[in-house]
Amino acid sequence: MATEQTILLQEISNLRSRQAQWNPYGWYKEMRENQPVYYDAEQDVWNVFLYDHAKRVLFDHEYFSNKKERSFIPIPRIMDNRSNVNFVDPPEHRNRRALLAKAFTPRTLEAWEPRIQTIVDELLTEMEGHSTVDIVEKLAIPLPVTVIAELLGVPTKDRVKIKTWSDILFLPYAKETFEDTAAKKGQAMQEFHEYLYPIVVDKRKHPADDILSDLTKAELEGERLTDQEVVMSAIGLLGAGNETTTTLISNTFYCMLFDKPAVYQELRSDLFLVPKLIEEVLRFRFPSTNDRKVVQDTNIFGPEMKKGQMIMVWTGAANRDETHFPHGEEFDIHRPGNQHHLTFGAGPHFCLGAPLARMEANIAMTSFVKRFADIRPVEGFDVLEHLTDSPMGQTLKSLPIWVEHQR
Ligand code: HEM
Repeated sequence: MATEQTILLQEISNLRSRQAQWNPYGWYKEMRENQPVYYDAEQDVWNVFLYDHAKRVLFDHEYFSNKKERSFIPIPRIMDNRSNVNFVDPPEHRNRRALLAKAFTPRTLEAWEPRIQTIVDELLTEMEGHSTVDIVEKLAIPLPVTVIAELLGVPTKDRVKIKTWSDILFLPYAKETFEDTAAKKGQAMQEFHEYLYPIVVDKRKHPADDILSDLTKAELEGERLTDQEVVMSAIGLLGAGNETTTTLISNTFYCMLFDKPAVYQELRSDLFLVPKLIEEVLRFRFPSTNDRKVVQDTNIFGPEMKKGQMIMVWTGAANRDETHFPHGEEFDIHRPGNQHHLTFGAGPHFCLGAPLARMEANIAMTSFVKRFADIRPVEGFDVLEHLTDSPMGQTLKSLPIWVEHQR
């Protein structure tokens, strides 16, 4: 990926410190109030921050296309092929999405529920006997990577390798270290590919009940996907389902510890509140963004946008738009309509894995809350020591918490 193909979000937001990137919400508010349609001349990128604008861009592929040469998503462009469900518009998009959609239907997921429960129970059992636990290392990282590896039919014993490669592919680019990061990504892509290729070839010969086998049999416009295309789909899915779900689970704990500590005991007395908690975390503490290319000149948001320019949709900012979420800056699991957040996107590209991510987070939190009587921050906790760079800004790389076991 070349510099000119990459949209550097930091250069737009100008949020430089870790602290500012971890809490971009003040800047989001400022932009919603003062410059809701903002043009970044240096990178030739439009930016929208309001809920209605964000939704319009994500739904309207006639003006805002996902066929783009530039992106803020730092995955090498090798992903740009027939098996990529994301960089394409309807109607072409429909068939590609249908290939994968089968793996994420409610019925398929229902069949997966007991297995996810077992993985969660095993991870929680490993916490027994410890009074402090790093919840990122012990739950938020291993759960999504194990689940997605099993769904695809890739050996879960290799989950550390898989996680390492997908983390590298998602490393954000920065101006100063661009070449270094690009080289690391190239290497990771090659290794990931060499690892998956023989697995895919084997699945074609000996299909099993998993997504990779289904993909080797699937047809697109009358032609089977090539081994290469199946490998690239697998890399896409392994990446898409990992870091995002890890962030969701990590941030859920962060919100319960620091944004609204009373919520833990509320959940203990009513486990049916867990899905509301998850939706509120997705709305409140998920600095997500999407990008599109302007494909027709338009002034639908006021200023004249030109064909060929890019547009960033700051969904994390839209999620706190007061016209849709009253007292949006407050963490409130009881606010009606929290689930209308845009963290999973909207329109034709709405996240295919959303039901899976929701299911993993709900099972993890319900089981955790049942098992542990209370949680507290560890003494002297300073979030700045526990952050790492990500395409979303900063995410938690560790979160040590104090846990009280059930008596
Ligand atoms: C909290 C967790 C997750 C978040 C926040 C998230 C977010 C998103 C967003 C915002 C999009 C839309 C991108 C766009 O409009 O260009 C998307 C698409 C997608 N997501 Fe997720 N995702 C999550 C988990 C997952 C999981 C677990 C999987 C499954 C492995 C997955 C697979 C996909 C796929 C295949 C697409 C492309 C859909 C399309 O273009 O039609 N995601 N995700």
